[in-house]
Amino acid sequence: MKTRITEMFGIQHPIIQGGMHYVGFAEMAAAVSNAGGLGIITGLTQKSAADLANEIAKCRDMTDKPFGVNLTFLPVVNAPDYEGMVRAIIEGGVKVVETAGNNPSQVLPPLQGAGIKVIHKCTSVRHALKAQNIGCDAVSVDGFECGGHPGEDDVPNMILLPRAADELEIPFVSSGGQADGRSLVASLAMGADGMNMGTRFIATKEAPVHQNVKDAIVAASELDTRLVMRPLRNTERVLNNAAVEQLLEIEKEKGSDLQFTDIIEQVAGVYPSIMLEGEMDKGAWSCGMVAGLINDIPTCQELIDRIMSEAEEIINQRLGGFQNAA
Ligand SMILES: Cc1cc2nc3c(=O)[nH]c(=O)nc-3n(C[C@H](O)[C@H](O)[C@H](O)COP(=O)(O)O)c2cc1C
Repeated sequence: MKTRITEMFGIQHPIIQGGMHYVGFAEMAAAVSNAGGLGIITGLTQKSAADLANEIAKCRDMTDKPFGVNLTFLPVVNAPDYEGMVRAIIEGGVKVVETAGNNPSQVLPPLQGAGIKVIHKCTSVRHALKAQNIGCDAVSVDGFECGGHPGEDDVPNMILLPRAADELEIPFVSSGGQADGRSLVASLAMGADGMNMGTRFIATKEAPVHQNVKDAIVAASELDTRLVMRPLRNTERVLNNAAVEQLLEIEKEKGSDLQFTDIIEQVAGVYPSIMLEGEMDKGAWSCGMVAGLINDIPTCQELIDRIMSEAEEIINQRLGGFQNAA
């Protein structure tokens, strides 16, 4: 399948693995890229620019296909060494950067000057237009159903994607709720040039996370995610668990007086214990509603091959069949 996204990133299939904290290590990115998609290393999971450089080198040893690095700009107390990370990305020969969170304009000149394509993740049409205006090469349009930070507008992809298609000139991929061939064909039908998946890629053999995390996703239905940190305007969609129920209880008690410090135990620094040790009730961790569509743990190659053959079948047989019947 050839789209503006496969052409721009030099990949075989229009499928991207979004940056994921404590999931997007070299093993994850290389497995997706080797399967013909675009794997992405999560920059901020690495503790320093030097660690990121090592992770990039490790990924390069595991694949000769293109892969990317995610740089997330969130309001944090001690800002990470973005300058050093940008240097590690450029020196590591990475060709794609996925930015997310705040406006990425500070990193565009050095990255694009080095021939790197930048795809910015947005949760609204106005942010997507802003990304286009500041010169991003592409955007990832993340609907309300997504795992992680869906923003505060609550517009699901059935509306958000065609709205983005109506407004944007640069290519975009759908993100949030995508899982299979049906997702890909629907995304293409709504104007996207590919799709980005997070949660689906965690439930794969190569995802370098504890088996408990994969099993929790397979066991979850589409009803099992919750929105946390809404009163702080930093909404995150997470899988429900004991810590999340406690967190929501605190949010209810505090109401509009809620401070980040009230819920710090449930949200700060919990990822290593969850993702690496499999302590599933340790805190809140991002997970999409798409968990309801995830019932197995294939390899990345099996997953991507299945998506592409399903998509082909839908386009040629199901959709083509409607036309022939008319
Ligand atoms: C466990 C987890 C961690 C994530 N961490 C990040 C992150 O650090 N930076 C980022 O830009 N997006 C992050 N995301 C969002 C994904 O890149 C992607 O946009 C999202 O998962 C898409 O929705 P889906 O889960 O329905 O596929 C994370 C998602 C998950 C599930």
